[in-house]
Formats: sequence, structure tokens, C-alpha cells
Amino acid sequence: TIHPVILCGGSGTRLWPRSRKAKPKPFLPLVGERTLFEATLDRWLDREDFAEPVIVAGAVHLPHIAEQAGETATIIVEPEAKNTAPAIGLAAALLPVDSIMLVCPSDHHIADPGSFTAAARAAAKLAAQDWMVAFGIAADRPETGYGYIRIGDEIPGGHRVARFVEKPDRATAERFLSEGGHAWNGGIFAFRAGAFMDELERHRPAMAEAVRKAVAGGRYVGQEFHPAAEPFSRIAGESVDYAVMENTDRAAVVPADMGWSDIGNWEALRDARPADENGNRVSGPAELVECRNVLVETDGKRVSVIGLDDVIVVVDGDDVLVTSAAGAQLVGKLSAAANQ
Ligand code: GDD
Ligand code: MG
Repeated sequence: TIHPVILCGGSGTRLWPRSRKAKPKPFLPLVGERTLFEATLDRWLDREDFAEPVIVAGAVHLPHIAEQAGETATIIVEPEAKNTAPAIGLAAALLPVDSIMLVCPSDHHIADPGSFTAAARAAAKLAAQDWMVAFGIAADRPETGYGYIRIGDEIPGGHRVARFVEKPDRATAERFLSEGGHAWNGGIFAFRAGAFMDELERHRPAMAEAVRKAVAGGRYVGQEFHPAAEPFSRIAGESVDYAVMENTDRAAVVPADMGWSDIGNWEALRDARPADENGNRVSGPAELVECRNVLVETDGKRVSVIGLDDVIVVVDGDDVLVTSAAGAQLVGKLSAAANQ
């Protein structure tokens, strides 16, 4: 069986004003009626080869998780946020060593869940042979917020990762794109629990030791597992991409053509939603005249837009955001978004 490990962290300031500290991105119905978190859980329903998910989350997320997940999961409650390498480490150290973990962010959109499950099964087979498996997404622009995978030699069921480069600068990303042979890292991984801990030990021994101590000293409260806070607090936070994927020589990649989006900003969210014949997406009361590729999202106030292309308008309570689609990547830098 495969153990889904679902990561809930971060506050999603880039989707302000809809996403707020009090109700962050995973817990909002941003594409369709289900929230991104609910849709993540749905991917595991009714499939006998998937075990109950393990959710790794901060205490602030617990009320939302209880509301949207019910009692169908184990929840590892992080004493504090230390980024993804320690978060995954907690699950790896808690699960039996031969468990196959499928690590999934709680805030991505996958339009084609069937292709995802097929890729997940392929990844699980490689993980059982102690590969650190990433999901490769076809890259179509020089995005600098992603990890890049240089596709290496073929192995049964996938490819070796020739090189993993997390968040390259613009010039490097452009070079990867023009060279070809690179995929984006989708942020979804498959690992055998014991193999992940071995790699963590090899490349980040202090982190591995602290994670093991936090789990050894932890305790269950109902369905929640609370790791010991003191050893965990000594960890230097780092993402799994930098701590493990860039360093391991056991990285493999499976291709995943599944309509993936990490909904990283309002432009990506616009593109993930179904459009009308002019490319517009409207939710809430709004009137658009001679507009193209405009997104309007309003929670009540009526919005009217005339003669604009590629504009995003979001109304949420007393907050109004107006941005060009290209400007959407700067939303997190607004003081209103950062200091909400
Ligand atoms: N539990 C927990 N604790 N979850 C966390 C923490 C933490 O401290 N930090 C981040 N997460 C969760 C986020 O909520 C998200 O679901 C996932 O882990 C990935 O973290 P991000 O902060 O969103 O990473 P990123 O977007 O900068 O980069 C990662 O994802 C890209 C694809 O979206 C990397 O894996 C990149 O290589 C990848 O291309
Ligand atoms: Mg992300």
C-alpha cells in the first residue's frame, strides 16, 4: 500500500485578498466547488491500494483540517514550521520503514486525477527500489519559482535525474528551456520511508537526528501525533528540494502529464478556471464589456469592467485588488497582503 503524506504549510499571501492567514489557500474552493485540500484528499478515495493519509500541518491549520477532512487521517502537528524537509522527515520517521510515501502538497490543482494516479503507481514502484522519485511536469516558460530536473538515463519505469536545480535564476531557467531535456519538479514525491531517512542522514545528519528525536519523544492525542518540540526547534529549516533532491544520487523522475498547476498566483488561478468564449472568468455579480482574458472574483459587490484585457479584479470584504495578469506575481509583496 501507498501512504499519501499531505503537506499543509505556508500562508498563501500571493492569493490575497481571497487567501488570508485566517483561511489560507488550501482551504478555499479556488477551482471548482471542492477546496484544494479536499480535492487532494479526494484523489485517494475508493482506492484499495492507498492507505489512510498522513497530514503534516501546523497547529493553525487544525481547525480547517478538522472541518474538511473529518477523522479519516493521522495528523502530525508540527511544533513550528521548518519547511518541507523536516515536515516530510516527521512522516518518514513515524511510518514503518518500508512504507511507500507519496508526498503531496495540499494546495495544487490537478485537472486529470486519472493520470496522476497512474504516475503515482509508477513512482511507487521506483520508490520501492529506493529511488527518490519526483514528478516531472513539461516546462513551457522560464519560471524561476520551480525546481528543474535534467532528465537522465532511462531506468525501468522512469528516468534518472541527471541534475536537480531548485529555483534557478532567470538566465539559467531560460537556458534549461532552450536546451530542452528539462522538466519542472511538480513538488510531489515518492519515497520509501527508510530510504528517505537514510538520504536525510547522509546529506543533513543534524536534521535527521533531530527529526528522529522529535518522533521518538512525541505522543498521540487521539488522531493527532505531536512530535517533541525541543529537538524540532533546533532544526535549521530547509526545503526537501535543497536538502535532499539537489544532493542525492538516487533521484528518479516519472513524467506526469496531468493538468498540473500549483496555483502560484492569480494569473495561474485564472488559467486553471474554465473560460467563456472571450477567455473571461467571472465569479460573483459582474458585467464585462469588450474584455478578454479578464478574471473577476467578487464576494458580493458588483464589478463592471469595460475594454480591458488580461486584468484581474478581486473583491473580498473591504479589500479590492486590481492587477494586470503579469503583475499578479507581485501580489505577495503588497503591504496589504503581507500585513493582513
Ligand atoms: N507541513 C508543512 N510544513 N508544509 C509545508 C511547510 C512546512 O513548514 N512549508 C511548505 N509546506 C507545504 C506548502 O504548503 C506546499 O503545499 C508545499 O509544502 C510546498 O511548499 P512551497 O513553499 O509551496 O514550495 P515552493 O512552491 O516554493 O517549491 C516547491 O514546489 C514547486 C512546485 O510547486 C518545490 O518543490 C519546487 O521544486 C517545485 O517546482
Ligand atoms: Mg508552492
